Amino acid sequence: MRRQAIAGLLGGVILAQGALAEEPSGDAEAGRAKAGICRTCHGLNGYAKMPLAPHIGGENALYIENQLHAFHDGTRVNEMMSVVAAGLDDEAIADLAAWYASQQIEASLPPGTAADRAPEACVDCHGANGVAVIEEAPNLAGENATYIRQQLEAFRAGRRASDVMQPIAAAMDDAAMREAADWYASINLEIAPAP
Ligand code: HEC
Ligand code: HEC
Repeated sequence: MRRQAIAGLLGGVILAQGALAEEPSGDAEAGRAKAGICRTCHGLNGYAKMPLAPHIGGENALYIENQLHAFHDGTRVNEMMSVVAAGLDDEAIADLAAWYASQQIEASLPPGTAADRAPEACVDCHGANGVAVIEEAPNLAGENATYIRQQLEAFRAGRRASDVMQPIAAAMDDAAMREAADWYASINLEIAPAP
């Protein structure tokens, strides 16, 4: 029921993004070979090695593709990623997305925490444990709290575009953003080492 309602809500967005990147078609092994330039910041398995780089291992391939295209096209801007993505063509983007999406992840709540204390406004799409429930949404589990807050602020200010997240972030004050960011940052994320 719930999933259907959300699918309905997101229908238009899914179609719009579908035009950008259709069914993911990358080659994970080719992506592994191209991930050498990513590993200093995101690790070879997608477990980030620097505080403001997000974990990308185990994200949905379509989400990774969309973000790399957005950095490449300039609709999402970051001093590091814009430079990196400028050098990637469609094939490299698809292959890298396939590689990072193929990683196995496990997310667990900190001991003594109950899932029903998760931020209610987020769980339908990002899950209580930060593992995405719908294909188009990213995992938030174990991301750095500052990274999460910066992204929410970027959606609120319109610096990062998303038909879904902009209205949600617009309705949040700084305290709500901090609370949601702290929840997801507190989750323990493990990514299996790259084979
Ligand atoms: C010098 C460090 C650095 C390198 C190298 C780098 N990244 Fe990033 N990456 C970042 C940072 C920092 C962000 C967060 C950008 C922001 O704040 O919007 C990011 C964000 C991303 C995102 C968005 C994730 C999300 O959850 O929205 C993807 C996907 C990504 N990088 C993939 C890659 C890939 C693939 C490569 C290699 C081709 C790569 N990155 C190389 C630092 C780096
Ligand atoms: C209806 C589904 C939905 C709900 C509810 C939702 N999100 Fe999202 N969220 C998304 C989608 C889809 C994206 C990807 C946007 C894009 O393509 O850039 C996203 C992206 C994000 C990002 C960027 C993550 C990254 O790796 O860069 C953050 C942070 C985020 N959401 C936080 C939240 C928080 C906190 C809440 C609750 C207050 C919330 N979201 C509620 C669907 C949702």
